[in-house]
Amino acid sequence: MIVIDQENNVFTLHTQNTTYQMKADQHRVLLHTYYGARIGGGDLSYLIRRADRGFSPNPNEVGDNRDYSLDTLPQEYSTCGVGDFRLSSIEFEPEDGSRLADLRYVGYELRPGKYALEGLPAFFGGTEWETLVVFLEDSAAGMSVELFYGVLEDCDLITRAVRVVNKGDGTVRLRRCASLCLDFQRDDLDFITFDGCHTLERNRNRSPLRPGVQSIESVRGTSSHHHNPFVILCDHQANEDYGLCYGAMLVYSGNFQAAAERTQLENNRLLIGVNPYHFCFDLAPGESFTAPEAALVCSPAGFGPMSRQYHRAIRNHLIRDPYQGRRRPVLINNWEATEFSFDASKLVDIAASAAPLGIELFVMDDGWFGARDTDRSGLGDWTVNQKKIPGGLESLVPKIKELGMSFGLWIEPEMVSENSDLFRAHPDWALGEPHRPQTRGRCQLVLDFSRKEVRDHIYTAIKTILDSADITYVKWDMNRSLSDVWSAALPAHRQGEVFHRYVLGVYDVLERLHQDYPDLLIEGCSGGGGRFDAGMLYYTPQIWCSDNTDAIDRLRIQYGTSFCYPVSSMGAHVSAVPNGQTGRRVSMETRGVVAMSGTFGYEMDLNQCTQEERETIRRQTAFFKEHYDLIQQGDYYRLTDPFTDSLTAWAQVSADRREALISLVSGTVHAAAPFRALRLKGLDSARSYQINGEGSFPGDVLMEAGYPLPLFWDDYSCMQLYLQAL
Ligand code: DGJ
Repeated sequence: MIVIDQENNVFTLHTQNTTYQMKADQHRVLLHTYYGARIGGGDLSYLIRRADRGFSPNPNEVGDNRDYSLDTLPQEYSTCGVGDFRLSSIEFEPEDGSRLADLRYVGYELRPGKYALEGLPAFFGGTEWETLVVFLEDSAAGMSVELFYGVLEDCDLITRAVRVVNKGDGTVRLRRCASLCLDFQRDDLDFITFDGCHTLERNRNRSPLRPGVQSIESVRGTSSHHHNPFVILCDHQANEDYGLCYGAMLVYSGNFQAAAERTQLENNRLLIGVNPYHFCFDLAPGESFTAPEAALVCSPAGFGPMSRQYHRAIRNHLIRDPYQGRRRPVLINNWEATEFSFDASKLVDIAASAAPLGIELFVMDDGWFGARDTDRSGLGDWTVNQKKIPGGLESLVPKIKELGMSFGLWIEPEMVSENSDLFRAHPDWALGEPHRPQTRGRCQLVLDFSRKEVRDHIYTAIKTILDSADITYVKWDMNRSLSDVWSAALPAHRQGEVFHRYVLGVYDVLERLHQDYPDLLIEGCSGGGGRFDAGMLYYTPQIWCSDNTDAIDRLRIQYGTSFCYPVSSMGAHVSAVPNGQTGRRVSMETRGVVAMSGTFGYEMDLNQCTQEERETIRRQTAFFKEHYDLIQQGDYYRLTDPFTDSLTAWAQVSADRREALISLVSGTVHAAAPFRALRLKGLDSARSYQINGEGSFPGDVLMEAGYPLPLFWDDYSCMQLYLQAL
């Protein structure tokens, strides 16, 4: 609900459990007055304290009033160079070379429905949404800044976006444009980020804010394995079930920056948006720039409710039809089994071993096209390699379908190998400044997706493949970071646009795919989880979580990912042991338990499995399908923290709390291990539950006293408890 007090210029956004407020004051400065647990409202600007602080200057119009300074007031969207020395939300440069932005309130509009952003992903919703647009202006530069707010009440989600319009008569260079600025009148907050590297993504890191700016960012052209565009600010004491916490996510897949600044006066500012690194956009008179969407969830009761609200919002308001609620297939992918060395008969062999075990989709990974026998060649030549697949997809796909499976394939559209027909024909289509040899990554170069002709060529090639056979799934991979970012199609003064235009180009091709093949399931991938973000989820309802398929490493990766992203978005497969990344041997049972808290599939040659393992796989796929809705759509509870606890446990609970699935994986065993009870969460305290078809356990006892665990006799043992209300 959006409540507007026109007389006092107070804008209050209420969600089910939270309230957000801003107010334009007597100097038309837009102040942020409150964000937290839901309260009645009213004009909360009295919460803002003012005092004369040394070296905090005063706007010209306040005269001698030294208490009024932009440097100390909480701003809704911070200015630049006119007296607020904290992080600037926006920076632009008119032709006179000044870098000043003094934004003042000029009006607002309430629009029915949730705003959409042209060319950019954004949460969507039905008529329950409204959009508030608040207009700010820097009159000297002729720049208008429109702040967009969407309010999804039942998910406690507040979305923001920004549009900047040059209303002056000269060109203005935009150098920074954050999507979100959030000021807090307190500094006793912890900053939590999700960081890592290739094969070890989204490790949770937490530390109290210290004075100054702390930030995470990506300058790799993608959101990256290294930092995720999702951060949390929270009470020092906050945990899964307690404490005020604020999640901020950017719905964007390129360079980003999330910065928290603890400032001189015990307050704190959070900015999130496109990274200003190598960024500028020249806006001619009348032109505009739209910054990607940011989405906030505040939880007054810890991380658990915050995550569940993000999961709900992503599942219902970001993932588009038809995959929003539709069952996704259990798949088998040949990559870890074969890498590049396969032929059609090997693929059919793998598929044939999987079909009787309940696996529904066969995915042909990298190596099926052009001269792609190693990672040194072939990218860009999207025609079937007839040596490996005689007769092409027209011949292979029917064989897979005869087994009762559907067929999917891997592509990496954004890349080109120097050893490819495409590169030989169009060397300038790769990013790179012509006087320098380009930096290679995984032996490949990056196509300049900021250029329409490049995108058109690649799209046509992919379309030809998709039209050649019955293909129901595509894995869209992206296997290097961007370097040598220079486009042959743009003049010198516009090279700062390339990083962002590249991302818009990726979105453009994905959107075309979505429009032309609405039933096609696309799984995102960037060497695993190098582009695991809400921007991609708008186009690809699931994303390969990590190239690390070791079930024990996956516990932490999937735990970190779960703070923001739902189970239904996390690509997870059972792979062979010893594991290719860690050399670890883990039982088929444990590998299955971990992978089925994701989109679930296998990535191995099942012909190599023992009969017993095959039986286990058959049971796993049947169990997963039986409990599909609970696992994929249920409320997710983290029951332990794998970074501090050797036991990892989590739960999915149905919305009506009549069913729950508890999964747990032990660590290494030790003699004389203590007895332990696992306290469950999310159950109905007034009901009793059968566990795995037996007994009667009161919900309140399970949550308060816990469920007594057996002693584990093996490293990395697993258990699943299926609870059904009596
Ligand atoms: C990286 C992906 O994450 C893998 O799953 C696999 O598809 C390879 N690329 C293929 O090159």
